Amino acid sequence: MGTMRHFRVWRGDDTGGSLEDFQVEVNEGEVVLDVIHRLQATQTPDLAVRWNCKAGKCGSCSMEINGKPRLGCMTRMSTFGDSETVTVTPLRTFPVIRDLVTNVNFNYQKARELPAFAPPKGVEPGEYRMQQVDVERSQEFRKCIECYLCQNVCHVVRDHEENKKAFSGPRFFIRAAELDMHPLDARGDRKELAQAEQGLGYCNITKCCTEVCPEHIKITDNAIIPMKERVVDRRYDPVTWLGRKIFRRDQLDEPAVTHASSPTGAASDTGSHWHQQGPVPQEPALGADGKLTVAELYLDRPAAASPFGDDQEFPLPPEKLRYNHPKNGH
Ligand code: SF4
Ligand code: SF4
Ligand code: FES
Repeated sequence: MGTMRHFRVWRGDDTGGSLEDFQVEVNEGEVVLDVIHRLQATQTPDLAVRWNCKAGKCGSCSMEINGKPRLGCMTRMSTFGDSETVTVTPLRTFPVIRDLVTNVNFNYQKARELPAFAPPKGVEPGEYRMQQVDVERSQEFRKCIECYLCQNVCHVVRDHEENKKAFSGPRFFIRAAELDMHPLDARGDRKELAQAEQGLGYCNITKCCTEVCPEHIKITDNAIIPMKERVVDRRYDPVTWLGRKIFRRDQLDEPAVTHASSPTGAASDTGSHWHQQGPVPQEPALGADGKLTVAELYLDRPAAASPFGDDQEFPLPPEKLRYNHPKNGH
């Protein structure tokens, strides 16, 4: 016989709902999903929850536990205090279907919008050859289990339904980065595509997506920042933007338009150095050379405010939970 614990579970559907309280048995070694299953078996047989593998591999059991997006099957009950209330709510970024089940169709639409891998002309399947080093580089991104916790936590869409049209989200930025690193992908510049079509510019590197990824994929450091760095000169710099307004494209595309006050001043430089002239208004701040600062790359601290608040520790205490039903317009 285990101990009795206090659970609060959100019940409802797309018309609304509320948190319901339960006293439920918890045994040693159990995870939150076990307890949800016990609730189904003993107290509330119609409680809806999505799951499949119970091994952290299918990505189905995504939910918010004490306010933090997590996999129910990988969240041990031993991580909570004995008297702590465990509050379970559905993913907030996606519309609720029922109870803990949300409609994650947004992600499938974004997957469909991403142009597929395309090998160079004349290279047939079976003739693809890659260096092991290239395989290893993209291997990290292949670990994704499509749990969409990163999509759920990203503040760009979490509280802004209106951004969903233009923003693909971190799961699809890692796909773009993976294809960008693929030596046989001939579909074009994935970084430019991510900027133009996937809304890469909306991301301000809060690193919340990395924080919740159960596969520990360094989404921000290894995918988003490298892509941003390479498009940042042209896209983010206000002086370059102004230059593009003033000059014709063919003038701007002239090689070696090195500005006199360029810190490098190197004759071999190609392209303009407009970006070294003025402040850059958007986060993350760029260094004098127009690149992300080393601190951005190495600091553990998020570069911008977390949607949870910078001083927030997880799991959130129940009284701090701010769950609002999407239909209520929050
Ligand atoms: S770093 Fe922040 S803003 Fe960028 S995709 Fe991840 S959660 Fe969203
Ligand atoms: S990147 Fe990580 S958090 Fe995002 S869907 Fe994949 S496994 Fe889940
Ligand atoms: S049930 Fe498959 S990841 Fe949790």
